[in-house]
Amino acid sequence: MRILAGIGGLAILAAVAVAIFFLGGFYSVAGAEPDLNLVHWALARVRTVSINRHAGDQPPAGLDDPARLQAGARAFATIGCVNCHGAPGVKWAKFSEGLHPDPPDLKELASDRTVAQLFWVIKNGINMTGMPSFALAGAKDEEIWQIVAFLKKLPGVSEADYKIWTAAR
Ligand code: HEC
Repeated sequence: MRILAGIGGLAILAAVAVAIFFLGGFYSVAGAEPDLNLVHWALARVRTVSINRHAGDQPPAGLDDPARLQAGARAFATIGCVNCHGAPGVKWAKFSEGLHPDPPDLKELASDRTVAQLFWVIKNGINMTGMPSFALAGAKDEEIWQIVAFLKKLPGVSEADYKIWTAAR
């Protein structure tokens, strides 16, 4: 009985300490603060399994149609992605170096993800990171699928092609 009471007392003390740490302002929300390895690992894991479970949308027929892919390049260039993720021949905006977590290189990432996963992330964003929800920002599903089509081909897109596809018309 005494042992149980001791454990209960310790649990209450621990809860109070945690509350003081977070609600007393001791925890730093600074983006410049590095994450502990364990926190970094846990956040990445939670993100990956969450995206895997939620991403179930079916792509439209003919996803890799050249017209759709080129429209995707234009959308990618105009909607803001390029600021944080860069594009063939286009540098990431300087401010993206201040994002925490930092935005991945989509050329490398896109082949690791299914089209449904890419679609879901672009549509919904990733909470508490700099990755916005483009559905909230007004993008229609078709426009998001166009961007997905473009991302899937990204490793093979030359700077010259990207320039032509995104030229103002
Ligand atoms: C304001 C900066 C910002 C903008 C604008 C932005 N992103 Fe991101 N994006 C991020 C950050 C930061 C991450 C990393 C999030 C993480 O590590 O959990 C990310 C992650 C991603 C991922 C990887 C998700 C995964 O599965 O791990 C994809 C794909 C992506 N962005 C695509 C896009 C596309 C396409 C656009 C434009 C429609 C876009 N992003 C616009 C900041 C941005």
